[in-house]
Amino acid sequence: MFEIGIQLRKERGPENVFDFSIGNPDVEPPEPVIAALRRVVAENRPRSHGYMPNAGFPEVRAVIAQRVAARSGIPFTADDVLMTTGAAGAINIVLKSILDPGDEVILLNPYFPEYRFYVENHGGRVIAVETSNKFQPDVARIAAAIGPRTKALILNSPNNPTGAVYDAGVLRELNAVIREPVLVISDEPYRPLVYDGLKPPETLNLIQRSVLAWSWSKAMAIAGERIGYLAIPPRLSEAAALRNACTFAIRILGYINATALWQLVVALVPDATVDVAGYQAKRDFLCDALNSMGYEAPRPQGSFYVFPKTPIPDDLGFIRLLQEEGILAVPGAGFGRSGYMRLSLTIPQHDLERALPGFQRALRQVR
Ligand SMILES: Cc1ncc(COP(=O)(O)O)c(C=O)c1O
Repeated sequence: MFEIGIQLRKERGPENVFDFSIGNPDVEPPEPVIAALRRVVAENRPRSHGYMPNAGFPEVRAVIAQRVAARSGIPFTADDVLMTTGAAGAINIVLKSILDPGDEVILLNPYFPEYRFYVENHGGRVIAVETSNKFQPDVARIAAAIGPRTKALILNSPNNPTGAVYDAGVLRELNAVIREPVLVISDEPYRPLVYDGLKPPETLNLIQRSVLAWSWSKAMAIAGERIGYLAIPPRLSEAAALRNACTFAIRILGYINATALWQLVVALVPDATVDVAGYQAKRDFLCDALNSMGYEAPRPQGSFYVFPKTPIPDDLGFIRLLQEEGILAVPGAGFGRSGYMRLSLTIPQHDLERALPGFQRALRQVR
């Protein structure tokens, strides 16, 4: 999509290309985050730029542990939290730690395409399991997919690409079918980005065998700074071994440690979040406009993606029609679910408005 975008911009002029394809926040980090960054730089604490324990600065891990403990009620301590290079780093260190070649990891279709690379990086095999028609986990299907080689299930709520937030009841049912050694990796970079006052259920509480992969990439709009954490609940029977393995994996995968400066920043303002109302307004505007044209575009409950059906089953074909209108969207096939497209709400509002006639014309062509 990136290459096609460059080409289209050359051909039509950048002002005539409407890029709905990239999940890179278009807003700036909240002011308290920038203020904390300035403070950390100004303080220039001794040893704040050097190597450190692979799992991160102990005092930062203590702050984060206290926050996650307060949120979840689980008695996390600094030892249970490992600072990582984003959620990507957190997921990769877990998979590196638990997978032997040929082991299986369940992904819920449609899924963030990088998961497949992450699993295969460490010799694992992806088992894709379809979600329900509302994109909720289908527990019966998951139970049927669990076999002797299953080591993990990756959950992502709020979800990329569907915007679904998983129901507490579904997560409870899922808990009942997850048995040792299967580990649930709950990937939650979009947790603060939820709409209509929704509170996403706490996966760590509902699923006994879950670990949390967190990232501030989307919450603080700092995706390029590569900062997140992995939280391993002490109740897991393998908690100590998993902590040690993941700490070592940080090093052997070449991450060494998460970025020093940003560890210090997030410890000062761990809960700072971008303005969610802006995304919600764009969600409402886009979904209302598409639905009134005749698209089927349900409002996402969270994340910053809309996942409408393409008006023809051939999503790749429809994406090409949109490209002729200067609109870049990601085909559902890229996430394992043909017949859909992902539209990112990180597009500026004026581009969003100017793209609407193109959506209308593309629809007319196939009707
Ligand atoms: C579902 C999901 N998980 C993980 C990531 C990676 O996030 P990070 O920047 O924290 O590595 C992304 C980024 O788009 C994502 O959408």
